[in-house]
Amino acid sequence: MNTYLRENSISQHLTLLKEAKAAVNIPVIASINCVSPNEWTTFAKEFEEAGADAIELNVFYLPANRNTQPGEIEQMYLTILEKIKEEVKIPVAIKIGMYFTNIVAMTDKLKASGANAVVLFNRFYEPDINLKTLEIVASEVFSSPADLRRSLRWVGLVSSSVPHLEIAASTGIHNGDAVIKELLAGAQVTQLCSTIYQNGPGVISQILKDLKSFMQKWNFKNIDEFRGRLSYKNIPDPMLYERSQFMKYFSGNH
Ligand SMILES: Cc1cc2nc3c(=O)[nH]c(=O)nc-3n(C[C@H](O)[C@H](O)[C@H](O)COP(=O)(O)O)c2cc1C
Repeated sequence: MNTYLRENSISQHLTLLKEAKAAVNIPVIASINCVSPNEWTTFAKEFEEAGADAIELNVFYLPANRNTQPGEIEQMYLTILEKIKEEVKIPVAIKIGMYFTNIVAMTDKLKASGANAVVLFNRFYEPDINLKTLEIVASEVFSSPADLRRSLRWVGLVSSSVPHLEIAASTGIHNGDAVIKELLAGAQVTQLCSTIYQNGPGVISQILKDLKSFMQKWNFKNIDEFRGRLSYKNIPDPMLYERSQFMKYFSGNH
């Protein structure tokens, strides 16, 4: 039964991919959700053959076992990526969560294992507790504009520290200002999810309008003229990215 469901959903995904390729003249990136190196890697080739311009691997392992070492978990991500890279010639991006001890080191290892790009970051389903019924329930599914801060620092740091690795910024990007900030921090592209669910795809036109008026105001002719202008390595005081405690804020010295 499970095999049938899996084959059926893969065939639906392949059909969607082929239809999307036929319908649009922009690149189509196929997404694969991976939880272990043994599953899913074989499907990458099928997505490539169906016309995907690139593959995005959504990898997440929930570390709930106290005997699993952090290095083993990191290696699992690298192994999945290496296996997929053996299967396909198209570019492969890997989408990760923000829970790594050293995100810069991890993205550097992903680059060394063949990643063409990283997506910073995925947002996962998280539990909450309903105190009226004493049950575990889903917490808020959608991000808010304030969640931008979760991705912005790491886009600024990784874009400065890991050469030749493109970054797709994701999490908390709800409007044109957020897109502009991620580009200034060094993102190659930005991704939208929650705002499209909440406001519909029309939000993209508004974002593009806002991006255009920002560029006109500052006289930028193309995005490369300002991409990364405020990244970690390009600002006079990189400490602004490193600052993580509120001490100064409470001493009134901010
Ligand atoms: C309802 C919902 C479903 C999602 N499903 C997937 C998925 O299947 N694969 C994936 O890689 N990310 C999935 N995501 C994560 C989003 O692609 C995105 O990375 C995350 O929501 C952060 O972006 P945002 O702040 O624009 O929502 C999902 C997010 C939401 C809210």
